Amino acid sequence: MAKAKKKAAATKTKPAAKKPAPKTVKAAAKKPAAKKANGNGAFHLPKPTNKPYGQAGKALEGVRILDFTHVQSGPTCTQLLAWFGADVIKVERPGVGDITRGQLRDVPNADSLYFTMLNHNKRSITIDSKHPQGKRVLDELIKKCDVLVENFAPGALDRMGLTWEHIHSLNPRMIVASVKGFGPGPYEDCKVYENVAQCTGGAASTTGFREGPPLVTGAQIGDSGTGLHLALGIVTALYQRTRTGRGQKVLAAMQDGVLNLCRVKLRDQQRLQHGPLTEYSQYGEGIPFHDTVPRAGNDSGGGQPGWILKCKGAPEDPNAYIYFITQAPVWEAICDVIGEPAWKTDPEYATPKARLPKLKQIFARIEEWTMTKTKFEAMEILNKYDIPCGPILSMKELAADESLRKTGTVVEVDHPTRGKYLTVGNPIKLSDSITEVQRSPLLGEHTDEILTEVLGLKPADVAEIKASGALSAPEKKEKAA
Ligand code: COA
Repeated sequence: MAKAKKKAAATKTKPAAKKPAPKTVKAAAKKPAAKKANGNGAFHLPKPTNKPYGQAGKALEGVRILDFTHVQSGPTCTQLLAWFGADVIKVERPGVGDITRGQLRDVPNADSLYFTMLNHNKRSITIDSKHPQGKRVLDELIKKCDVLVENFAPGALDRMGLTWEHIHSLNPRMIVASVKGFGPGPYEDCKVYENVAQCTGGAASTTGFREGPPLVTGAQIGDSGTGLHLALGIVTALYQRTRTGRGQKVLAAMQDGVLNLCRVKLRDQQRLQHGPLTEYSQYGEGIPFHDTVPRAGNDSGGGQPGWILKCKGAPEDPNAYIYFITQAPVWEAICDVIGEPAWKTDPEYATPKARLPKLKQIFARIEEWTMTKTKFEAMEILNKYDIPCGPILSMKELAADESLRKTGTVVEVDHPTRGKYLTVGNPIKLSDSITEVQRSPLLGEHTDEILTEVLGLKPADVAEIKASGALSAPEKKEKAA
């Protein structure tokens, strides 16, 4: 419960705690918002501090987030904000919670890794957003928060009564941030999951081998990628609010986020009008280009040709491979390393232009060399010559990587019902805002704490709201009836 204590300490300084506790949420809703309530004043430009780096609080301390996110895209965003110090209050449906709590479970009756790995450093409150008393609690929370983040299906937030107009009237400073599958247009009403976004954002049509079908990637560029985009939108809107005093809507559409990450492929689409894409190995193989960007296998997306090559141990070890880039400035070193010193001066090989039509043959020759080394031996030798390369690392290898543990990119977390597990920590390192990864909350773990500390309600008020059924699961309501 260290987390609860820490959060309590953090909220102690907030003016909300000094407010006289409302008798009921209904009564509180009628009161004008306190001038210094968190949503109307807690986020301001901080006073200069003399505290040393790493001890001046976290970057987003004082920012309170009403987190209506679920599954992956939205939770990725709010987890980042929590790691940067925001107080993230995750609102979950009573009894069920975020659907991922129960998806892909590996430990019976414990929150899944799917959930725990996306919801660190957050607090959880259960509220039935369609219950009249639940709506009132939400209205009060809106007044106390700086940002509402959601990634419901299109229209769901409005159907809860939480329209932009309603939120804005309660708290004009509130930023309302949404992930949707598509931006305005023919598909705006569609529900979208990761792979749909990869397909509609240009990733699938440009991933895979030319002769094979479109392919989705393992990296969650649709979900986690869009969550990252949204987080940037939110902090940007918070920054603008320091000047305007106003909140605004922030939208990150998954199709847009994926297309942004596929920017180089839209570049290539336009280059096609001016001739073949000479760095694609298809060019060297003499296969004509059509009018759209083809799948490029393991070709490098930039101007320096690259490919994945077998190392010692392949193919028995499915990851005994290395990515090898024939960067022009180190071509001579590559020739020496692989034992082809004559290629340094041979006009057929000496220039990048001369090499382009022969890339397949050149990589086959380099592979003869890489197959005599393990991927780590090859990496060590090639790095001495500044030859850009990277071993294909398995998840098993990454999980055991000591340097990633040291930097906090891979972290071990303890959880009361599932025990210890590994997670990916904050990949963004701020020298003056150090991330401490704390376990994800149990469903509704902080319901009472949030009602009393954030809303300033008294135990009797909390009991009244609970009795109304606004915070409990429908099964319980049925049993009680
Ligand atoms: N209390 C009461 N009802 C709640 C609730 C709460 N605390 N939280 C959610 N609900 C309700 C919603 O109001 C909605 O009801 P409605 O359809 O009657 O209005 C319902 O739960 C389901 O929400 P929805 O978002 O439609 O969930 P879904 O499981 O059907 O769809 C997605 C999931 C991800 C496809 C959809 O949310 C979506 O397209 N989101 C936007 C894109 C996105 O983020 N996709 C990636 C997810 S990783």
